[in-house]
Amino acid sequence: MSTLPKDFLWGGAVAAHQLEGAWQEDGKGISVADVMTVGDNKTEREITDGVKPGLNYPNHEAIDFYHRYHDDVKLFAEMGMKAFRTSIAWTRIFPNGDEDEPNEAGLKFYDDLFDELLAHGIEPVITLSHFEMPYHLVTEYGGWRNRKMIDFFTKFATVVFKRYKDKVKYWMTFNEINNQAGLNKFALWTNSGINPQPGEDAEREMYQASHYEIVASALAVQIGHKINPDFQIGAMFAMGPVYPVTPDPKNVMKAERAMQANYFYADAQCKGRYPAWLKKYWERKQYDLDITLADEDVIKAGTVDYIGFSYYASHAAQAVDGEADDYMTRAKDSEVNNPTLKQSDWGWLIDPVGLRYTLNWLSDRYDLPLFIVENGLGAFDKIEDGKIHDDYRIDYLREHIKQMELAVNVDGVKLMGYTPWGFIDLVSAGTGQMDKRYGMIYVDKNDAGEGTLKRMKKDSFDWYRKVIESNGADL
Ligand code: BG6
Repeated sequence: MSTLPKDFLWGGAVAAHQLEGAWQEDGKGISVADVMTVGDNKTEREITDGVKPGLNYPNHEAIDFYHRYHDDVKLFAEMGMKAFRTSIAWTRIFPNGDEDEPNEAGLKFYDDLFDELLAHGIEPVITLSHFEMPYHLVTEYGGWRNRKMIDFFTKFATVVFKRYKDKVKYWMTFNEINNQAGLNKFALWTNSGINPQPGEDAEREMYQASHYEIVASALAVQIGHKINPDFQIGAMFAMGPVYPVTPDPKNVMKAERAMQANYFYADAQCKGRYPAWLKKYWERKQYDLDITLADEDVIKAGTVDYIGFSYYASHAAQAVDGEADDYMTRAKDSEVNNPTLKQSDWGWLIDPVGLRYTLNWLSDRYDLPLFIVENGLGAFDKIEDGKIHDDYRIDYLREHIKQMELAVNVDGVKLMGYTPWGFIDLVSAGTGQMDKRYGMIYVDKNDAGEGTLKRMKKDSFDWYRKVIESNGADL
């Protein structure tokens, strides 16, 4: 018998740019996701200079949820979902990001979507910024390198908080705000609209952009609470614990520093301050970051109500030859394989116990309610006799849910809900693929963009329906 709370938010998660499509409809502007081409598990997505003819931009049509959401929401309700996590495409509300007035057609779309969800007893859980900032803010202002972004973002947040104050209770500010800490090209672009230029110190820009986002998030929390004191406004982190590859204390220190470096965002957004080690690091690097005393007050006053996080995989780290005293050496061979774990077809390490570890780690450190807002297995699916027998996906989810329940029932972690990622097949953020599928609902479309877009239930659909119905007891 599961002892999850009665109001546990079982559901599923998506993001606007990965499923809506209709990239230019009803006044929508171009987002940073609209200039990313398709890739695969070996080829990176290309970020183009504007939209170029003849290239495959998978987010433009995505799975056409924009036109199909009435039928899709019926399917979600049939699954018994209590919560639907999506984002509001910033470019539907402010197409360029710097307009004085919002776009009414964009606002109306989300009004209708939220009404539809609520009519089916499904709670919307909304991310304000999920890898889809207006492209114009990049070309005109340099993205989050620029302090002006704080105003553009808080204006957007204020408009949607006011508009949906009676329809949406659960919010998150920035999706996986910490991805960019690793300085990879995809994350700098999707988090912050930064495509580092020759001669630019990407690390400095990343810290500056992160700071502006942290301030913007803290302001949004304060604004939101004024508009509706019942709002629950969370942060959102990509969580993947980093283990030391061996008990060698140097490897332990390396893994600890990797955790600190990935999750300093949580210190700022949950505790309201930057950690001491990071301030020292900035000093040593002589980064002249624009962080004012007023910003520090804002961060202190705008801590979040809960922590939303994604969990897919864990990592292992080792100190490298010539490792610096601060253990911040960014070397490729710092991250190593963990042979105790199996991998997905995309090389992501499958580690259900790591989810329990993560829940404990976050709970002890920040003492806030937690919400698993993404989890899942990206896999190739095969249609056999008109069916998809995705036992591999069921196994993955079952093992993770078991660990989640142990964290709640044995460890006493306060957990609000569980919304597995991409429960309806959608465009992969990392590779732009359709064939990297997370869904319990199949969508007929492939990497080349071909297909009827028809929806079909996989075996995991009925399995998850029973999990929800039994509040996690029937796995
Ligand atoms: C998270 C993102 O990084 O992981 C999602 O919040 C993303 O947008 C998901 O889709 C899975 O990653 P991917 O690259 O397999 O789509």
